[in-house]
Amino acid sequence: MSKRVNIYDLAVGGEGVGRLDDGRVVFVAGAAVNDDLLVEVTEEKSRYARGTILEVVSAGEGRIKPACRHVARGCGGCDWQHLSEEAQIEGKLLLVEDALVKLGSIVSPDVGYVAGPESVRYRTTVRVGVENGRAAYRRSRSPELVPVDDCLIAHPLIDEILSEGFFADASEVMIRVGSRTGDRLVMGEPTADGFRVPDQVSVVGKNQASKSVDAYIVEEAAGMQWKISARSFFQSSPEGAEMLVALAAEWLGVHEVGDRAMVDLYAGVGLFSGTVGDWFEKVTAVESSASAVADAAHNLDSHVAIHRISVEQWVPELADVVIADPPRSGLRAKGVEIIGKTEAPHVLLVSCDAGALGRDAALMTSAGYELDRVDVLDMFPQTSHVEVVSGWIRNI
Ligand SMILES: C[S@@+](CC[C@H](N)C(=O)[O-])C[C@H]1O[C@@H](n2cnc3c(N)ncnc32)[C@H](O)[C@@H]1O
Repeated sequence: MSKRVNIYDLAVGGEGVGRLDDGRVVFVAGAAVNDDLLVEVTEEKSRYARGTILEVVSAGEGRIKPACRHVARGCGGCDWQHLSEEAQIEGKLLLVEDALVKLGSIVSPDVGYVAGPESVRYRTTVRVGVENGRAAYRRSRSPELVPVDDCLIAHPLIDEILSEGFFADASEVMIRVGSRTGDRLVMGEPTADGFRVPDQVSVVGKNQASKSVDAYIVEEAAGMQWKISARSFFQSSPEGAEMLVALAAEWLGVHEVGDRAMVDLYAGVGLFSGTVGDWFEKVTAVESSASAVADAAHNLDSHVAIHRISVEQWVPELADVVIADPPRSGLRAKGVEIIGKTEAPHVLLVSCDAGALGRDAALMTSAGYELDRVDVLDMFPQTSHVEVVSGWIRNI
């Protein structure tokens, strides 16, 4: 069933938002604000529908031709390549403002924007599917695969692995490089049996990654060398990691926070503990992944106490500052309760999902914190993904 739809907004998740004649909202992937579209409705629910573009009748002012040829082939890796740089920035700011107002009940938030250094070739970790042994990205909202031999947003050290790598029977492959060290690693899931990759690329199966002594890369960022194992999290690029650390340092510096104790929740391989953590007499890093904890123990000095435990189970300690960088689901009620028990006057929250940020903002306000500053860090150009840093001050 085809329908004419005008797009008036962008939704968390990156789709355009329009309305059907019966008043229901319709979400359309690949749409720009003010697009006039002919849409095929592919999913119908009582309160909303989802559709795909049959024809762009007239294009919104932010629409451009995607730079990467794989978009036209259906690759769902980057969902905002059809938007100009200005439209992407405006979209991210609006998504975050909207989430803070509608979900967080924050009145008129003043959302700042910090540009990343590169809009292409920036990602140093990618995850791909495998079709006939070759790397492939998924189509948007579909299990179908689109083979690729390069990627506009991947670091050039990754491109050679995408084009030359043979990944046999793996279902998924993670490719990670150290852009400043040249280290390269490929992890196959469930195994890496039968893989062929360029010279000097380490290969490991996910089933072996925790036992293998070589399944890591070293990356340089923020003046440190970081050991990052195949199964550990690291930011999308060293430049992205440095943006986060710089913003954290700036906010903590402006507020002249106490220097006794910092708590680093969801600490990963230790990015915040190893950098701004140096300002504090004592740092407590809380992280649940065994692999990240082992890396953090390698990366960090002895003034950081590393707790391998989930944040929800950790026994809170008093702190001057908490930095919390949760996964996509956000802090949720339990994470905010734990932060409240640290009685930290200053909390820096790093959110990678606008919806989770909005929900966490409401919980932080109820827990007695006031939003002092909020910035979108553009660490994922060409996509609708946001990284948001918000600074909170305790008012009780
Ligand atoms: C977005 S990453 C941030 C890592 C680190 N702060 C950084 O900047 O590199 C989130 C981290 O939280 C960890 N994690 C996820 N759920 C957790 C939980 N419930 N408790 C503790 N750590 C958790 C993940 O293993 C991951 O390392």
